[in-house]
Amino acid sequence: MSLDINLDKILIIDFGSQFTQLIARRIRELGVFSELVSHKKIKSTLINKNIKGIILSGGPLNVYQLNNKIFDKKIINLGIPILGICFGHQILSKFNGGRVKKSKHREFGLAKIFKKNNSLLVKNFFNKQKSNQVWMSHADQVSRLPKNFKVVASTDNSKFAIVENKRENFYGVQFHPEVTHTENGKKIISNFVFLVCKIKRNWSSKDQKIQLIKDIRTKVGTSKVICGLSGGVDSSVVSQLLNKAIGKKLYCIFVNTGLLRKNEEREVVETFKKRLKINLIYVNAEKEFIKKLTNVSDPEKKRKIIGNLFVKIFERYAKKIKNVKFLAQGTLYPDLIESKSVTGSQTSKIKSHHNVGGLPKKMKLKLIEPLKFLFKDEVRKLGLELNLNKEIISRHPFPGPGLAIRMPGIITKKKISILKEADYYFIQALKKHGLYHKIWQAYAALLPVKTVGVMGDNRTYEYLCLLRAITSEDGMTADFFEFKKSFSQMISNKIVNSIRGINRVVYDITSKPPSTIELE
Ligand code: XMP
Repeated sequence: MSLDINLDKILIIDFGSQFTQLIARRIRELGVFSELVSHKKIKSTLINKNIKGIILSGGPLNVYQLNNKIFDKKIINLGIPILGICFGHQILSKFNGGRVKKSKHREFGLAKIFKKNNSLLVKNFFNKQKSNQVWMSHADQVSRLPKNFKVVASTDNSKFAIVENKRENFYGVQFHPEVTHTENGKKIISNFVFLVCKIKRNWSSKDQKIQLIKDIRTKVGTSKVICGLSGGVDSSVVSQLLNKAIGKKLYCIFVNTGLLRKNEEREVVETFKKRLKINLIYVNAEKEFIKKLTNVSDPEKKRKIIGNLFVKIFERYAKKIKNVKFLAQGTLYPDLIESKSVTGSQTSKIKSHHNVGGLPKKMKLKLIEPLKFLFKDEVRKLGLELNLNKEIISRHPFPGPGLAIRMPGIITKKKISILKEADYYFIQALKKHGLYHKIWQAYAALLPVKTVGVMGDNRTYEYLCLLRAITSEDGMTADFFEFKKSFSQMISNKIVNSIRGINRVVYDITSKPPSTIELE
């Protein structure tokens, strides 16, 4: 458990709702720091003076399953303002002597909520009719209020849809104010943060820059840091942040894995070494990577091999440079959450992201991950604050394992060169048609399937190219982008006609979930 950023914050205790991250984002959008922690990991003894308010999230449990192992009830009585959302609302009522039972009608989706009493929590929340649309998702509900609680608003099915105990600063809402379907839901969160917890804004890009530079200097001291620079948004921001914090004590290492996008290595060296004057070492490890990946087709094995080799290379260079204690990485908050290190066991492990899960346990270098509390959009804003140009900041994300995870099955040099070309044509076309910035991430993949085609009068038997283009807020969920037929036609013709080795193009129309963004 971290709680190590010395900033006033709202602590969100995660009980496993799919929306918990959204609560953190909403608070940060208000300019206030918020941190997420699993209900299993947080103990009352860990609550420090920086925590000005607590939000109990929703989740799939029911209140009668809660014991001291699952949640330390003492947290409720520390005198800190608490907002319970959905299941969190039920916990708050139950622990204060109220009753929770199965609802007669399970409520999923929109419901109308009617104002019954005034409360700080609903200041400027209700519309003129005093009946907002809110988004519900629950099977249980509070059936009897605890002492000293009053009703603030009700729906037809939930009498206690918003409740408060003003004296203790306890608030509960049965619906989800953090989702956009709830009309004016942000107001509930901002009222809790500013009016109830009385916390001050402390989370602008400028605040983050100052705080992070200070933290890095304290942590690094006189030692040296190496940083794996990929040229992507995250590692670019980390490099520039470290550059500002420790200057020449930073050694950026750019590893050419042979699994990069076309021209990537040339562009990165050009930008970072020549333009930004960052201490950059270029390592051509193409042969090493391809050799290690020979005949490997299992996605997790690929990820582990690549992660391990990256670290080996970093350690090799650390030895050469001498007195290197740290390896800096651009790990983000969603990476931590998806690898389960923050929120415990509610979500199952999906992939070993090489920033987090793929690193060997016995790595000699200590990790420094300055962005590990930031969401992607926050990283982009921080990058601008650090004077990185828009072109770098708005690049589509590119995964550490690179083209290896966009090529299901075994990896060969021939496949890599085919894929590089297809991806290049696709991305260039998106840029040319003004679509690149409308899309969160796009790429081409090469499927290990050959199909029959006809070109001229000849039969062809070539690989299948899959295109993926998605819209997303932070990569945690995603939807596929809808291209016009003319664009789809143009790009499929271009790829099939220009690249030998591909005779069919398909477009991935799955969202995340149930799919993931990358194929492996
Ligand atoms: P998935 O495939 O998990 O991808 O839906 C979510 C986002 O994460 C990127 N990604 C990675 N980034 N190292 C990275 O730095 C990795 O190992 C890795 N795996 C996936 C992916 O490109 C998408 O933006």
